Amino acid sequence: MPMLTRATLADELRRLGVPERGLLLVHSSFRALGPVDGGPEAVVGALLDAMGPAGTVMAPTFTTNLIDPYTWPVPPEERERARILADIPYFDPTTSRPHKMGIIAEALWRTPGTLRSAHPVTSWAARGTLAEALLKDQPLDDPEGRDGPVGRAWQRDAWVLLLGVEHDADTTVHLAESLLEMPHLEILPDRYPSRDARGARVWLPVRKTTKCSDGFLGLGPHLDTAGVVRRGPTGACQSQLVRSRDVVRVAANLLRRQPTALLCADPDCVHCPASRRVLAAWRAPTGTPEAPPA
Ligand SMILES: CC(C)(COP(=O)(O)OP(=O)(O)OC[C@H]1O[C@@H](n2cnc3c(N)ncnc32)[C@H](O)[C@@H]1OP(=O)(O)O)[C@@H](O)C(=O)NCCC(=O)NCCS
Ligand SMILES: [Zn+2]
Repeated sequence: MPMLTRATLADELRRLGVPERGLLLVHSSFRALGPVDGGPEAVVGALLDAMGPAGTVMAPTFTTNLIDPYTWPVPPEERERARILADIPYFDPTTSRPHKMGIIAEALWRTPGTLRSAHPVTSWAARGTLAEALLKDQPLDDPEGRDGPVGRAWQRDAWVLLLGVEHDADTTVHLAESLLEMPHLEILPDRYPSRDARGARVWLPVRKTTKCSDGFLGLGPHLDTAGVVRRGPTGACQSQLVRSRDVVRVAANLLRRQPTALLCADPDCVHCPASRRVLAAWRAPTGTPEAPPA
């Protein structure tokens, strides 16, 4: 198989249906693509070429390594936690590397001219015509809700590209949870370091924020049944393209009927067993959250 290049990947993305002049949320795995001539920067180039100069590309640059580790997937022992708390640096949008978002998201952030939102835990990088409107003043609480970058993208009829990854990396599912006001988002708040008026270190909570997304894999078959997923080859892997509105609509319909459907089954998960308890007594509001007409 010939090595993937910026030009061939851009062609594959167009064939998949990436909309020129549109808005694209990208979740990605560089390794899944196989060898790429030009590395992650060539993938960013291909995304920008496929979208054209009037398009906008956005990717998560979360820094979930810069929070109190009590909500990490494997929390440390108390003594280790105290050591980590003392050492965690403050978030700086210009220097804090994204954590576990992949080298493509990092390359997008590092491309000169890309903007990054200032959220201390779940920031986003974007470039293109809508970048500033999507990223400015990301709310500290409910950062993945209606008024955050993902919610604003949903309101602007964005597409979600899963480049060699699955829905467990699909942040738009968190938007559906937020729009439904699901109460498990309120437990175990992320806590990030900040400085008080005298410069002393303080730990502040982020209310209503993302939890474990491993169980979001279960959304895939529902989206397939709804017939809203486009699939196609990208390098060595298959990728998926789906409208943000369809992710929210299908996820919200599922979660209304079965609130725990997208929690993971791991009994040792830091979030999901507690979420299951909170959701047992919850009744969803009626009606599917509707974005304004495109
Ligand atoms: C976690 C995740 C990023 C791991 O995927 P991955 O492909 O292993 O990670 P990356 O995209 O960083 O690629 C890593 C590879 O790039 C290589 N690489 C890193 N920098 C490189 C560079 N400059 N040039 C060439 N190769 C490079 C690494 O060596 C590694 O390859 P290897 O595994 O063969 O050693 C992915 O599974 C995922 O979940 N992505 C989506 C994240 C997301 O959007 N989450 C949303 C929040 S819910
Ligand atoms: Zn879980």
